[in-house]
Amino acid sequence: MLTWGALNIIGASPEKRAEIEQAQKKMVTSVDAEISELGIEHNSLGNRAKTYLYCLESRCPETGWLVPMVPSWVISKQRNVVAKLIPNHELQSFEIKIVSSVSAEEMKQAEQGTVQNGCLTYSLNGKTYTTPIKTLRGDYKDANGNNLNRLRRWEKHEFKPRPDDIFQERLYCIQWMTAESLNKKQKKTFFAAVTDEDLERERQVEQIVAENIVQWQQHGLMPDMPIEPSDKTDEPIRTRGWTYWHHLFNPRQILIFVFYKKQSNFMQGGLLKPAITSIQSKSIEWNTKLCRWATSDRHENQVNTFSNQALNTLLNFAVRAHSNLENHTIFEFNKSDLPIFSKTEITSIPANLVSENADLFLTDPPYADAVHYHEITEFFIAWLRKNPPAPFNEWIWDSRRALAIKGSGDDFRRGMVEAYTAMTQHMPDNGMQCVMFTHQDTGVWSDMVGIFWAAGLQVVGTWYIATETTSELKKGGYLACFTRR
Ligand SMILES: C[S@@+](CC[C@H](N)C(=O)[O-])C[C@H]1O[C@@H](n2cnc3c(N)ncnc32)[C@H](O)[C@@H]1O
Repeated sequence: MLTWGALNIIGASPEKRAEIEQAQKKMVTSVDAEISELGIEHNSLGNRAKTYLYCLESRCPETGWLVPMVPSWVISKQRNVVAKLIPNHELQSFEIKIVSSVSAEEMKQAEQGTVQNGCLTYSLNGKTYTTPIKTLRGDYKDANGNNLNRLRRWEKHEFKPRPDDIFQERLYCIQWMTAESLNKKQKKTFFAAVTDEDLERERQVEQIVAENIVQWQQHGLMPDMPIEPSDKTDEPIRTRGWTYWHHLFNPRQILIFVFYKKQSNFMQGGLLKPAITSIQSKSIEWNTKLCRWATSDRHENQVNTFSNQALNTLLNFAVRAHSNLENHTIFEFNKSDLPIFSKTEITSIPANLVSENADLFLTDPPYADAVHYHEITEFFIAWLRKNPPAPFNEWIWDSRRALAIKGSGDDFRRGMVEAYTAMTQHMPDNGMQCVMFTHQDTGVWSDMVGIFWAAGLQVVGTWYIATETTSELKKGGYLACFTRR
């Protein structure tokens, strides 16, 4: 799909590009109107939500109290905002107060959340209680040595915990944009505790999802695909009991994406539907329960799902309200329109089955077990596979895990040699292969040298390039060119 986007969005003519940009804006405007009409993101003072912060909550086995679970109570390092727990003895639970402009010392104290070193830890009446998360979950091994636990597995039509589940999900803070600044470029924001009115809006969203989920799933407006267990996909299942891909989304997130999908279905024109559908994949990745809240002196917002290429579940997560998602729904692409006489075709086959000759092969292979693409792709496939627009309706919406070159040992090396040998055999004597290489591990570098040599290739040049993940930590990658040896 990314290759399709490179050719059909980045490579589109200026006129088509303008149409796509218009369509992005139209979709956002329509969805925004729908959300404003429902009144689910505005409060009675006219303020509009920007971000919702949620945390898990669990009952302490020693006291029976319901305890919010967070690694830190710091909410804003820019404005010294923290959350504070106030015991409610009658309800055996904690109210959560949001306090702004606290002292440096209080900020330091707030860094200690209720989960430390894998344990739920909190104080009540001067006594500290500590329970390992493993105990809360009821971890055990079965007769075959498999790691299991007592978390209930969520079902297909569920989207929130049941009241007696071990882990509850609780809204604990809202970042608001003030009513007066809503029409201004610079929005003024503040953090506030959750009120009864806010909880009513939460129930309203949940009710809309509850009433429609079966039908939305049937029509492919939201996922109904089970999570297939494997290295990375095991984590949501094991640590939360989430068994379907939509369990990674909170009701507000589901609702926004269903609205997006509905809007893209209304779009006319052969290119707009698939273009908007692929763009939506970015919005979806930027609003899940795997998105953490990040605060620092320079930056304060929610962070995307694949900021690390795994499926790590979080104790507390941030949900973007619609206006805060706009940057990831209306966004610019590089422009590089293809010559009008060019013809493109996309086929998806395992590289070792290449059967057509080509002068140039450009590849961006997986490197050892660095990223489990075949598993992570399923996150997107879950949203895309039902009723996709043409030409995606002709694609096989399955990650085809069995065909992926994976692992890090001999299987990986053998798979890579087979793939590059097949391509080498299908290029002329003066043909070329360009290979992206972004791995940091020198061990993998020497593997790669062996792989390309064994495939009958020799290096003729390498270039240092910046990649999408280039940062101070990850310093870009290389493009290497090979000819037949
Ligand atoms: C580094 S990623 C490439 C990402 C690509 N440049 C893009 O923008 O989508 C490596 C890709 O190789 C794919 N892959 C794994 N085994 C393969 C095989 N046997 N044949 C072809 N592609 C394979 C993975 O699924 C993954 O999408």
